[in-house]
Amino acid sequence: MAQGCENWWRDGIFYQIYPRSFQDSDGDGVGDLAGIHRRLPYVKSLGVNAIWLSPIFASPMADFGYDISDYTGIDPLFGTMEDFDALLAAAHDNGLKLILDLVPNHTSDRHPWFVESRSSRDNPKRDWYIWRDPGADGSEPNNWLSEFGGSAWAYDETTGQYYYHAFLAQQPDLNWRNPEVRAAIYDVMRFWLEKGVDGFRVDVIWHLIKDAEFRDNPPNPHYVEGRPPNEKILTQYSTDQPEVHDVIAEMRHLTNAYDARVLIGEIYLPLHRLMAYYGNDLTGAQMPFNFALLSTFWSARSIEKIVEDYEKALPKGAWPNWVLGNHDRPRVASRVGPEQARVAAMLLLTLRGTPTLYYGDEIGMHQVAIAPDDVRDPFEKNVPGIGVGRDGCRTPMQWDSSPAGGFSGTRPWLPLPEDHIHENVANFEADARSILNLYRRLIALRKACPPLVSGDYVPISAQGDLLLYRRQFEGKAVIVALNLGPEPIAVTTSAIRFGSEILISTFLDREGERLEGVLDLRGNEGVLVVPPH
Ligand code: GLC
Ligand code: MG
Repeated sequence: MAQGCENWWRDGIFYQIYPRSFQDSDGDGVGDLAGIHRRLPYVKSLGVNAIWLSPIFASPMADFGYDISDYTGIDPLFGTMEDFDALLAAAHDNGLKLILDLVPNHTSDRHPWFVESRSSRDNPKRDWYIWRDPGADGSEPNNWLSEFGGSAWAYDETTGQYYYHAFLAQQPDLNWRNPEVRAAIYDVMRFWLEKGVDGFRVDVIWHLIKDAEFRDNPPNPHYVEGRPPNEKILTQYSTDQPEVHDVIAEMRHLTNAYDARVLIGEIYLPLHRLMAYYGNDLTGAQMPFNFALLSTFWSARSIEKIVEDYEKALPKGAWPNWVLGNHDRPRVASRVGPEQARVAAMLLLTLRGTPTLYYGDEIGMHQVAIAPDDVRDPFEKNVPGIGVGRDGCRTPMQWDSSPAGGFSGTRPWLPLPEDHIHENVANFEADARSILNLYRRLIALRKACPPLVSGDYVPISAQGDLLLYRRQFEGKAVIVALNLGPEPIAVTTSAIRFGSEILISTFLDREGERLEGVLDLRGNEGVLVVPPH
C-alpha cells in the first residue's frame, strides 16, 4: 500500500496504543514514546497499517491525558518533541501511519485558556468556556450530569458562576459556538498535520455542541438500578446537537487540505444517530467509530443482526468500520471468554470495514483485577464499586515473563496479572498456534485476499451458536463459519461445496483441509473456507 494513497484507511488495520501502558523506556513505571519507538518492529510484525496513540500531550493527568494543558506540547512523562518526531519518522519508514488523539471538547482546568477564562467575567477568554449564573437558590444552572458522576456544573467562587464539564471538574468544556475556540483548535490540528501525522481520532466528538438554551435533560425511563448515575437522565440537550455536524464538516475540510489524512470520530450513539456523523454527502468523519460489538450479546443471531442493521444503515458510499476493544471498555477476552477471543478475532478481521485492534487483545489480555489501593481511574474513584473502572483494561502490555512483564524495570503504574508469566508476547511468539500468531495469520490473509477487504458482506445463516457469512468480490468468495459456543457443530449447507478448502482455523491446525460437503466445527472454532475453483 503506497504512502499517500487516498484510501489507505479503508484497506488498512488500525492498532490503538495506550501510551502509558505499552512500553516504559526510562524506568518510571509509565510507558512513553521512546518505548513505543522501540516496539515498532513488533507492531509492524502484526501486519497492521496504522497506529492510533491515546493522548501524549502536556496534561496534569486527572484523566490520564484526556485533560490537556498544552495541545502542541508533549508531556514530559511521555518524552520530548524530539522523541515524537523520531517516532513519527520511524513509523513512516516502517510503512505505518500515525494517528493522534484530538481532544477538542474540553481542556484541563490548568490550561492557560481556562486559567484566563476563570480569572474574571470580562476576560477575553471568558466565553471560550461555558459559564452560567446559578439558579435563584444558588443551584446548578440545569440538571445535566457529568459522565463521571455528580452534576456537570462546578461553581467557581472567584466569579460567582458555574462552568460546565461533561467529564471531570478538571475538564471544563470548551464553547464550540465561539469562533475563536474553533480557530484555536484548528490551529492545533494544522500544527500536527504539518508535522505529518496521518489524522486524528476525535475524542467525544458528539459532545462538542450543546443546546443553545441549556434546557433540562429529560429523565431516562429505562434507567437500570446499579448502572452509572449519569444514565438517570438522557443527554438529549447536552450532546448530539444538529450544529455539531457543521463543526465536523469544518474539521474535515481542514484535513482534506492535506494529502490522505483521516478523521475518526468517537461516538457512542444508537445506529440511526451514528450515521449522521458521516456528514451530508460524506463531508463528516471518514470513520465514525462503530462500537456495536463492544456491547453485543455474544450469540449468532445478535451479531448477525448488528451487522445487518449497520450495513443497511450506512449512507451511500460510506465505509464501514468495526471495533472490538478500547481503553474505556472491558477487554474482549473477558467479555466473551478466552476461547471465544480467538473467534472474535476472526469476526473482527473478516467483517466488511476497517478493523481497529486494541493493544494486548492480540495476546488475549483479559481484565486485570485492581485492588482498591491500586485504583487509578477517576471514574472508578468517583463512582466506586459498580464496575465502571477502566484500569483493568489499561494494564501494561505483557511482553515476557519477568516481574514487570518486560514493560518496565520498575513497578508499573498499574499491576500485571499473575498469569502474565505464561500469557506474554515472548511465549506466544514461540508457540506457532498461539492467539498472537492467529492474529498475524488473519491479518496477513485479510491483506492477501481481496474479498476480505473489498468484498460484499452476504449473510448466510445465524442459528444457535453458528454464524455463517460470505465475503465476495469479483467472482471470488470466502466463507466465514464461526462457532460461538463450546459444543461441536456439523455444518451442512449448500454454501459449503464438495471440495471446498479450509484457509485457516482459529486453532491454526486445519489449513488446506478439503471438505466433502460437511464442515465439522469443533467447539469455539472459527474457520475460513474457499469454494473449489
Ligand atoms: C473519551 C475517552 C475517555 C475519556 C473521555 C473524556 O471517552 O476515550 O478515556 O475519559 O473521553 O475525555
Ligand atoms: Mg516511562
